[in-house]
Amino acid sequence: MAPHTSTPSRGSVAGAAVMSAARPIRDVPLHEAASTPTGVGELDRVLGSGLVAGAVVLLAGEPGVGKSTLLLDVAARWAGGGRRTLYVSAEESAAQVRLRAGRTGALHDQLFLAAETDLGAVLTHIEQLDPELLVLDSVQAVTVSGTDGVAGGVAQVREVTNALVRVAKQRRLPVLLVGHVTKDGTVAGPRLLEHLVDVVLSFEGDRHSGLRLVRATKNRFGPADEVGCFEMTEGGIREVADPSHLFTSARAEPVPGTALTVTQEGRRPLLGELQALVAPSAAQTPRRVTHGLEGGRVSVILAVLERKAKVRLHNKEVYVSTVGGARVVDPAADLAVALAVASAAAEHAFHRPLIALGEVGLSGEVRRVAGVERRIAEAARLGFGLALVPPGSNIGLRGMRAVEVGTVAAAVDLLQLRP
Ligand code: TYD
Ligand code: MG
Repeated sequence: MAPHTSTPSRGSVAGAAVMSAARPIRDVPLHEAASTPTGVGELDRVLGSGLVAGAVVLLAGEPGVGKSTLLLDVAARWAGGGRRTLYVSAEESAAQVRLRAGRTGALHDQLFLAAETDLGAVLTHIEQLDPELLVLDSVQAVTVSGTDGVAGGVAQVREVTNALVRVAKQRRLPVLLVGHVTKDGTVAGPRLLEHLVDVVLSFEGDRHSGLRLVRATKNRFGPADEVGCFEMTEGGIREVADPSHLFTSARAEPVPGTALTVTQEGRRPLLGELQALVAPSAAQTPRRVTHGLEGGRVSVILAVLERKAKVRLHNKEVYVSTVGGARVVDPAADLAVALAVASAAAEHAFHRPLIALGEVGLSGEVRRVAGVERRIAEAARLGFGLALVPPGSNIGLRGMRAVEVGTVAAAVDLLQLRP
């Protein structure tokens, strides 16, 4: 056994200066992790309450989704608070960024712009300007001399990020990094960076609609299940504080083949509309087409309707779609999908506007879903007075009649959707 000595061996590692002496945990001042709102409310919601000094935030998304547009807006607002802000573009020329800023209203005295692709030059800009926020667009387009590999490659991206994390911590400088992801994941990117940075935001959107969602997938300072909503417009990116209207068609009265539900994105309730069309078919295997919904899930619901609720669909084409390009994976939308299809098959609309909530099981039962209270509260806020909910939901909300339905068949009967 090795002899026990009072000075532990350090091996070959020499002692080094510490950043600051270890303190009793209660003595660590909380303001060191205090955050400052960016002024973009939807982003602050996702971040927790704003940017923390020294924090490095990665905004990851596919090319063209709007990362540069969003961060230029954030930079302009930060600068609008009288804080020196440095926007470094490694992808576009300064003139291009200037042009965009003019169009989106991001010109500000305190917003400084540099077009650089070399990390050393970026660090010099930070030294010279001593900014209170750095935006780097994008991390893949910056290179470090002395490190092997191509720009955007694993070695380069890691080196660039590590250097920026060091600078951020030393200067207590908040840093926003743009990172590209591609569908096939060929670019060394955000996946690799996730453990190096403090916050990872994923920026999602559908090319054919203006809607954009920002979601925290990692957050050392706040919740990791909040979602921020934005809309891409001609004049730049706009916050959508009340996104429910985006996913529904503005109609006061129900029409056959439509049903409304409240889905949850993170912990945010969103009104969603499902539309269905049922048409006769002579084909051996009639077409089933879905948009914005998982095909497999819809198939199960159609089988349940056929077998458990006696809604005849085997000789019918069935089309089911979301509205506004929404992607709905929330099982709570199952009951609304079932009712939209049943309503389309019966060519009969509900008598009054209502919300349907519930997961549909294989035996046709309506199952409980998470966050029923929050969803119903959102429906009530939007003016709905009737909801079909899973058994045991126990909703007691003034002005809202929540009817518990045990099975899809019971819901179909209740709404008189039998042909
Ligand atoms: P961009 O921010 O350049 O995307 P990213 O940095 O993620 O690659 O914006 C991409 C798209 O957004 C571009 O095709 C044009 C569109 N766009 C608008 O619709 N409105 C605008 O005000 C701007 C600046 C861009
Ligand atoms: Mg860009």
